Amino acid sequence: MRTWRFHEPGDIRNLILEETEKPVPGPDEALVNIHCAALNPADRYLVQGQYPRAGTPPFTPGRDGAGIILQPAAGGRFKAGDKVCILGGLTGVSRPGTLAEYCPVPEAWLAPVPANWTFEQAAAAPLVHLTAWRALVICGGLTGADTVLITGASGGVGTAAIFLAKARGARVIALSRSKSKRKTLEAMGADYALDIGSPSLEQEVRQAAGEKPVSLILDTLGGPFLEKCARIIAAHGRILVVGLLADLKSEITLGLLIHKNLRLQGLSVSAFTPNEIQDAWDSILGCYGNSSKRPLISRIFPMEDVQDAFEHLHAGPLGKVVIRITEHRVER
Ligand SMILES: NC(=O)c1ccc[n+]([C@@H]2O[C@H](COP(=O)([O-])OP(=O)(O)OC[C@H]3O[C@@H](n4cnc5c(N)ncnc54)[C@H](OP(=O)(O)O)[C@@H]3O)[C@@H](O)[C@H]2O)c1
Repeated sequence: MRTWRFHEPGDIRNLILEETEKPVPGPDEALVNIHCAALNPADRYLVQGQYPRAGTPPFTPGRDGAGIILQPAAGGRFKAGDKVCILGGLTGVSRPGTLAEYCPVPEAWLAPVPANWTFEQAAAAPLVHLTAWRALVICGGLTGADTVLITGASGGVGTAAIFLAKARGARVIALSRSKSKRKTLEAMGADYALDIGSPSLEQEVRQAAGEKPVSLILDTLGGPFLEKCARIIAAHGRILVVGLLADLKSEITLGLLIHKNLRLQGLSVSAFTPNEIQDAWDSILGCYGNSSKRPLISRIFPMEDVQDAFEHLHAGPLGKVVIRITEHRVER
């Protein structure tokens, strides 16, 4: 089979497209013929050797993927030919990932591709939606009364968070550096989209929020933005730290946490158990319901162009970056 692997951690250019043996699934695992994968910043960190619990090289990254069951687990709930997507687990972390034509995945971490969704959409959605759900709903206790601020709002996690927060009836203020992306974020439901680089950001957010100040923040950036979040948020607010795209270190004025009675919490999507993740995924799909809304995809790349796709992701996409792995070719 064709697969992208790195033999040594380092630059993303260390990834090489290779021919390897088709993997043999273990007990409780299904062999999935991957049709589409989606990239996440964590895949880059993993290739760079900066990810905890990463698999030993030569290693195939890729945590998100959707495809068709080629070989089901014995006595499992899926059969050959079923369309599935990967919700989580160690795929693309310490187990072989989805940037390959075939991927063995424990059945407990699989779910059917939602009805009327494409493989591209089903590959794009899980990791970022489950992260946003864990942050907003499970850790943040989101309600319709919240005003939610989202940093890095145009990215995978950010666009999922906008969708989920709006679906739960909250007000959303989205932050992005790009004027054109801010327009799209408002078109997709954000009540306000503001320039995160504005010197008067705090004032602008307060003005937009009006009588219902920001009560919940999902931060994907870290670095200098965490202090800004603590300044912007109302007393008793909750700040959920999801990512560190701006910097992995932040300086924060502890007096803000104390005097405003703030809750500051980090979280990892990897903390889900298989049962929890299936429940969360069902709830996320419930938010989509029968609507025609779908996860936002920035661009779809062919398998050969994975490195260009990583560059596109690094440059700040609007939504998810998807890789088409197999053109709907199913070997039986
Ligand atoms: N904790 C977890 O379990 C978990 C799960 C998933 C992701 N994450 C992390 O969450 C972060 C976001 O992931 P993602 O998939 O949403 O990433 P993404 O799709 O690459 O999008 C992030 C967005 O953030 C903005 N951005 C990037 N660098 C920035 C900077 N230096 N300053 C200001 N804005 C910047 C860009 O938007 P504009 O260009 O529009 O400003 C970009 O589109 C990453 O660090 C990722 O590793 C964590």
